[in-house]
Amino acid sequence: MSYETILVERRDRVALITLNRPKQLNALNVQMARDITDAAQKFDADETIGCIVVTGAAKAFAAGADIKEMTDLSYMDAHRLDWFHLWDRLADVRKPMIAAVSGYALGGGCELAMICDFIIAADTAKFGQPEVKLGVMPGIGGSQRLTRAVGKAKAMDMILTGRMMDAAEAERAGLVSRVVAPEKLLDEVFDAAKTIAAMSLPSTRMNKEAVNAAFETGLAQGVRFERRLFQATFAMRDQKEGMAAFVEKRPPSFSHD
Ligand code: CAA
Repeated sequence: MSYETILVERRDRVALITLNRPKQLNALNVQMARDITDAAQKFDADETIGCIVVTGAAKAFAAGADIKEMTDLSYMDAHRLDWFHLWDRLADVRKPMIAAVSGYALGGGCELAMICDFIIAADTAKFGQPEVKLGVMPGIGGSQRLTRAVGKAKAMDMILTGRMMDAAEAERAGLVSRVVAPEKLLDEVFDAAKTIAAMSLPSTRMNKEAVNAAFETGLAQGVRFERRLFQATFAMRDQKEGMAAFVEKRPPSFSHD
């Protein structure tokens, strides 16, 4: 797999997607949306991959959608092309995805990180939805995912003022799961990704689906959905293996089915 705007590699059962437009601070143009979603879909379909990591560069995870590409866009073009629809494909990925964020994660960059299942950040990370300063607004789900992640008060503050949130504030607000020193970022993320990738793949898919249901349904419906998924795990060989391994005091050997 080789792409124009990203680098991809795999380490055992972990896939790494590195955004690679450093001169533009990884501004997300359409080609990048195509490349990232194509790579993520291919890794999602590859049963030898258990977790996908998305990262950028030290200065910028991504400084937003490519403003230069959008400047002359007309409403009819945006509507006809359904501008940004490609990113929905990333939200449909069923395997766990972790964003490893260092530096700027602004606009579409923050939105890309939030499409991932959780964010581990370097203490240099800066998150923001500054679209209002450009006379526009978030367009890749920021107004929805940021609000669900940090609540209405902070989301309104961020989106209406366009201010940035540093890594410490992002962790306090619940946007980020862990903050680490920049030089430890990829090691920390790979450790988490390897841990996830060693679990039973159907089980991780179901766990991800159940947590996501908390954002899309009411509590009673979500709890019922979780219970059905829980019961479904008893159809899996990995449930028998995981529980037998515990009883026999040995590590499990999952066959991912
Ligand atoms: N789109 C296009 N190019 C961008 C870009 C973007 N979002 N962000 C940075 N760049 C380019 C700059 O134009 C510059 O290119 P040139 O060297 O050719 O001039 C290069 O990257 C380096 O940027 P700066 O010189 O500005 O670097 P800096 O260190 O002085 O500032 C920054 C860094 C604060 C992140 C600043 O670049 C910035 O404010 N960028 C724009 C952030 C932004 O508004 N993002 C939202 C975009 S809209 C969006 O994302 C909509 C949506 O919901 C999806």
